[in-house]
Amino acid sequence: MGAFIPRELIETIRGQVDLVEVAGEYLRLTKKGKDFVALCPFHQEKTPSFTVSREKQIFHCFGCGVGGNVFHFLMAMENLTFPEAVRQLAARTGVVIPVSRGADEQKKAGMESRLWEMNALARDFYRQFLHNRAEGALAREYLARRGLHKDIILRFQLGYAPAGWDSLIKYLKGHNYALEEIVAAGLAVASERGKVFDRFRHRIIFPIHNPQGKVVGFGGRALREEDEPKYLNSPETAVFNKRHLLYGLDLARPAIREQGFAIIVEGYMDVLSAHQAGVNNAVASMGTSLTVEQGRLLLRYTTEAVIAYDADAAGVAAALRSLDILCELGFSIRVVSVPQGKDPDEYIRSHGRQAWDSLVKNAPTFLEYKIEQASRVTGDKKKILQQVIPGVAGMTSPVEQEESVKLIAARLGLSWEVVKSELRRYQVEQRKKWPISDKIANKTHNIITDAKKIAEQEILRLILQNPGYLPVVEKELGAQFIENPLFKRIFKLMQQQSEKQGPADWMDELPDQERIVISRLLIERPPLGDSSEVLRDLIKTIKANDRMLQKDRLLQELARAEKNRDLERVNFLLKELEQLLSWPKREAGCAAEGGKELSI
Ligand code: CTP
Ligand code: MN
Repeated sequence: MGAFIPRELIETIRGQVDLVEVAGEYLRLTKKGKDFVALCPFHQEKTPSFTVSREKQIFHCFGCGVGGNVFHFLMAMENLTFPEAVRQLAARTGVVIPVSRGADEQKKAGMESRLWEMNALARDFYRQFLHNRAEGALAREYLARRGLHKDIILRFQLGYAPAGWDSLIKYLKGHNYALEEIVAAGLAVASERGKVFDRFRHRIIFPIHNPQGKVVGFGGRALREEDEPKYLNSPETAVFNKRHLLYGLDLARPAIREQGFAIIVEGYMDVLSAHQAGVNNAVASMGTSLTVEQGRLLLRYTTEAVIAYDADAAGVAAALRSLDILCELGFSIRVVSVPQGKDPDEYIRSHGRQAWDSLVKNAPTFLEYKIEQASRVTGDKKKILQQVIPGVAGMTSPVEQEESVKLIAARLGLSWEVVKSELRRYQVEQRKKWPISDKIANKTHNIITDAKKIAEQEILRLILQNPGYLPVVEKELGAQFIENPLFKRIFKLMQQQSEKQGPADWMDELPDQERIVISRLLIERPPLGDSSEVLRDLIKTIKANDRMLQKDRLLQELARAEKNRDLERVNFLLKELEQLLSWPKREAGCAAEGGKELSI
């Protein structure tokens, strides 16, 4: 990580660059109304849906959903971290970023940079043993037996961890690293009795890199079949989290961009064999089922993925679930089933590149695959429909959706109308739920009406477009009126900002989800003409909804009190109800922007 960059400097830099200009260096922007549009660089498309607003200094793609300010654009485009993007833009504005850091920052940055250094040293140590030491003979033989050539072994920086107890520890101590640091880096482990020894011993070492090509951790494969576990990985450290990484992505990036899709396999060996055969767009999820974080990472390079997991993969169901995650992120997916229960590594080595390419070329889409899988388990067409319809409903392109309906009808021998009506039924059901699927919210909030959900989103949009409305909303509705957790978080964020700043100024370090929703809300619809009137209606909607809910609650309580013959309570509740139902008289008028009266 780079040095700490003071807030004010970040703001100065942002103030001196124009997103339209920066984006214009990468994309062919054309003017459309007040905004600019271009073909989205982050997914494949034929009509431009990537939109940049000069006024708001924010971008948003209607196709794949990415969005943010100028820093996020550069981060995604050049695959940079936030500080790296800031530095790059600083360089062009001539703003100088001093290297001074706060004490804590300095300590943290210092620790992290030592971690990076240790990882790089360990990689070189293991490499040295594999290639230049007598102890590495068995490992060299092993890799040769598995059909790996020298160039691929070098390209992936493979190594060998010698069998001794503390060879790496001694080596790193020789470079002035303390035992605790070596343990913190995950390169050594402490036994219960307090003895410390090398984590990786007598194993083939696969360095795991981040997308920028720096080593963040290691995977180690046992040489002997009887050694357990077969693979041992680095533990989670400050720089290593398997869920956020894809093995081989640093090398596969250019090929993924070039070919327009990525192949996702399970393991290290699959990636190596693929790249050795010239299939350079392969990455591995490293055993676990794909995570959202891995999906997001890949989303920087492509929205098309071919999944090639072991045919005998434990639990097809689990695999399907993880693919649903990718779909929700906007990926189109095809699924390769490797024949004869082989994994991609074995298949490519025994059948060669061409056979592999044709497997990929003929791979069924995720939908086709789902139909096949479901048909294997049941002959009940209704059950099969239930399994595939949600995926179709989630498709953003109407053309794709229409094609899918046709495909399902054909595969199941049903009429187009039956499938279509099943889809409609499902969509109607879904519309009653949240516009932004939030499973937690769904559970507790099915009592809230659609109108309120939409009102929440639109109020949020209005405040984002016009921060001056925030006090009005707070005064009328308080701070707790938003039910959707994501919207709620954004509302809180807005409350913490000063009015002078627009969202582009304070979205720098927001989590992806927040940033993406804010960008969408800002760009999706231009500010409305007489927005104060719209705001008034929205506030009304929310208040009416609250009253309705409260009325329901009071009626329920009333029924209970009557049942218990609690006369005192009954009277109290009746009074409450009466008051609630006489609201128009009580609640006439409320302050609007600039002291103007909003009558509700
Ligand atoms: N994996 C792991 N820990 C394990 C087993 C597996 O981290 N104990 C991960 C590794 O990234 C491995 C991947 O899951 O590459 C797939 O596992 P598996 O199919 O068992 O191994 P292969 O990649 O086929 O390895 P090999 O061909 O050497 O057996
Ligand atoms: Mn294998």
